[in-house]
Amino acid sequence: MKARGLLAATIIVVASTCVTVAARMQPVSYSGRTDFQTFCSSCHGADARGDGPFAKSLKKRPADLTQLAKGDNGVFPDARIFKTIEGREPGSTHRGSEMPAWGDVLAKSTESQGVENAAARIRALVEYLRTLQAKP
Ligand code: HEC
Repeated sequence: MKARGLLAATIIVVASTCVTVAARMQPVSYSGRTDFQTFCSSCHGADARGDGPFAKSLKKRPADLTQLAKGDNGVFPDARIFKTIEGREPGSTHRGSEMPAWGDVLAKSTESQGVENAAARIRALVEYLRTLQAKP
């Protein structure tokens, strides 16, 4: 009986170690929709039109994020949008604006520690924004 209990305990330990390792190796997938509501809607609005509850108290109006493709001849400028949100590039238009550099913010978040996880999370946000584009 004792040996069996020990065996069961060993199996549990081994199994939970496998689960932990698997969880660490899985690429985490982030929900752009959820993150948008959490981090962005306060300024950009729940439907991304630039009219969130904070918008009025900002010096510069938050961009209407449903019009990003329109300004670029109907092509959604994903690379530019990624860089804008990340805010890491020295020439980035949003350096010093009221829009935070999300690359740094997300890299410090427990769900997306480090530059690469933060980038994956920003890519999910960019993909979500792509789905919101107004039809030309
Ligand atoms: C504190 C308010 C605030 C929050 C929160 C915020 N933004 Fe912004 N955002 C702004 C403002 C203000 C601008 C316009 C800044 C400018 O033009 O200099 C802007 C601009 C942008 C632009 C540039 C649009 C363009 O035409 O180039 C993108 C993309 C964007 N925000 C995405 C996001 C995303 C995604 C989030 C959430 C992760 C977010 N923003 C959160 C205030 C905010």
